[in-house]
Amino acid sequence: MTSIDRLLGVADSALRTLAGTQRAAQPLPEPVVPGGPLDPEQKRLAGALMRVNHVGEVCAQALYSAQALATRNPALRTQFEKAAREETDHLAWTQQRLRELGARPSLLNPLWYAGAFGIGLIAARAGDAISLGFVVETERQVEQHLESHLDRLPRDDAASRAIVARMKNDEAGHAASAEQAGATTLPAPVRWAMRAAGRIMTTTAHRF
Ligand SMILES: [Fe+2]
Ligand SMILES: [Fe+2]
Repeated sequence: MTSIDRLLGVADSALRTLAGTQRAAQPLPEPVVPGGPLDPEQKRLAGALMRVNHVGEVCAQALYSAQALATRNPALRTQFEKAAREETDHLAWTQQRLRELGARPSLLNPLWYAGAFGIGLIAARAGDAISLGFVVETERQVEQHLESHLDRLPRDDAASRAIVARMKNDEAGHAASAEQAGATTLPAPVRWAMRAAGRIMTTTAHRF
């Protein structure tokens, strides 16, 4: 592929992500035991939490696209593209669940996408080991965050819980493969800054 092809691919993926037209390749994870009916308050809470998770997946699309675009290592590009495809499943699943809960995606998605894309480019410019270190740290933080959502989601919302549990598993796999590919550990202040940025994103997306 030429650089122009790659740029067009990135633009296409950005537009599909923001327009909500990305399709999942894998079927939606189904709960083992079906849930119960949700009251309006539980539905509102589940909708807000799934909106936060959907924003996380919008950011994952942007981060992996930017990193795949900027790396000069073809093997690494393939790895980023593979992870991005799994993130596309996550994106489509969370979007479907938002719809089922009668909730809307974040109004600020274009902003989250642009911000995450910029951060992905900066990480990629710092070299492959740091770029991979950034993936490891991001995926670990997302995994912890999804774990906390398993505590907060209503017990009866088995459909959302099945999606979140599967995503948590996949994110752990993304962190492990980035680690095996030669990730370096990011300095503590960078990890703290990432955590702070994540907190701003999750708090805002909960409402908007
Ligand atoms: Fe994901
Ligand atoms: Fe991931």
